Amino acid sequence: MAAGYVSTRMVKELEPGSRVKVRGWVYRHRDLGRKVFIVLRDADGILQLVADEAYTPQKYVEEARNASIESSIIAEGVTARDPRAPGGVELRLERLEIVGPSVDFPIKGGEGIDYLLENRHLWIRSRKLTAMWRIRQTAFKAFREFFESRGFWEVSPPMLTQAAVEGGATLFKVDFFGKPAYLTQSSQFYLEALIFSLERVWTLAPSFRAERSRTRRHLYEYWHLEAEEAWVGMEGEMKLVEELVAYTTKRILEERLEELSLLKRKTEPLEPALKTPYPRIRYEEAIRRLQGKGVKIEYGDDLGADEERLLTEDFDTPFFITHFPMELKSFYMKPDPHNPREALAFDLLAPEGVGEIVGGSERQDDYQALYKQIESRGYNPEDYQWYLDLRKYGSVPHSGFGLGVERYLMWVTGVNHVRDTVPFPRFRDRIYP
Ligand code: 4AD
Ligand code: MG
Repeated sequence: MAAGYVSTRMVKELEPGSRVKVRGWVYRHRDLGRKVFIVLRDADGILQLVADEAYTPQKYVEEARNASIESSIIAEGVTARDPRAPGGVELRLERLEIVGPSVDFPIKGGEGIDYLLENRHLWIRSRKLTAMWRIRQTAFKAFREFFESRGFWEVSPPMLTQAAVEGGATLFKVDFFGKPAYLTQSSQFYLEALIFSLERVWTLAPSFRAERSRTRRHLYEYWHLEAEEAWVGMEGEMKLVEELVAYTTKRILEERLEELSLLKRKTEPLEPALKTPYPRIRYEEAIRRLQGKGVKIEYGDDLGADEERLLTEDFDTPFFITHFPMELKSFYMKPDPHNPREALAFDLLAPEGVGEIVGGSERQDDYQALYKQIESRGYNPEDYQWYLDLRKYGSVPHSGFGLGVERYLMWVTGVNHVRDTVPFPRFRDRIYP
């Protein structure tokens, strides 16, 4: 008798002729009369089960016949090599039991995207999406490994906040006991407060943006990896960012080749990203390059998704754009002392058309200067009093950045839309499921 259950992956590592128990969900079902083929899916993969009147008791052949798509089952049998089975191994059934039947599973293949999104709670069982969650987990683990190895402290800022970080246009307002509050757009200001004791901090948390436009790279709720460091300027921060991206990408290539191949992601285009430093160009040069490509754009114009995509044609690795005009960037950034029209700001763009995955900067650390920068944007300094306070008591030069986890995964996995990098995307007008 087989003892405990084994996973579909382990079954393939056993000697043929082993007796095992497995459990999972019916992924494919084919009834050939005397024989029933089931492909079983569990968290680790898939395995072919065969019920055959030649060796399966009649009662269990019937049960196999009734085990429709997405029924949960437990089964027991003997392993055998079969080159036609996925992974080259099948399980010849001696027993099969339906645990939870599944009548007429709503996803049969070939449905349109709206239907699939409405049924996301069921669609997330798909092998491709499952591969994504596994890659995502490796990314999360690698982020943590990276920051641990660099002596950073992981901190937990709030998601309910009282002021905008990245401008009022994308704020989600909530009713906080009769007073307005907002869902956080970025944990940056709270991280800044924490560097005065911990010096180097990071967090991985949701951020919320009420984006006006629907695009393939915008979500209303996304996961934001943010870090902040005391005593570090823009250059030092960029070094941290490129090493983080190279490290995480390397870990994904080490651990998740199978998943990447399931997503049909070629890995060669990721190889150059394992080497740092990444190229750096100034905003000014980005404008010149775009003009050279025939784009009607001038110094002072913002770079949208189309412009970013064109720039990515020139690079096979992620690359930085630095020194944006102050007006294009957030109010808290420090101007370049050599050219105060430009901010000590950087974006990291991923190649292959993906564009911005990281935004970061050196922060304005002078009280008076920051006060003026807040006023000049038409904001009320009173709303930023505690943030200004940080410049009043032992201010230090400091820098930080935020990486959009879904944007990063979009690039690494090569999927075409950011919604497929998160289980339950919040990106449309309605919250369902
Ligand atoms: O460039 P952003 O707006 O920068 C900040 O929020 C800074 N306060 C971060 C910091 O310095 N601590 O956002 C950072 C990153 C972007 O580069 C992008 O990858 C991602 O967050 N992002 C989004 N991802 C998905 N959907 C959206 N609507 C996003 N908005 C920003
Ligand atoms: Mg940005």
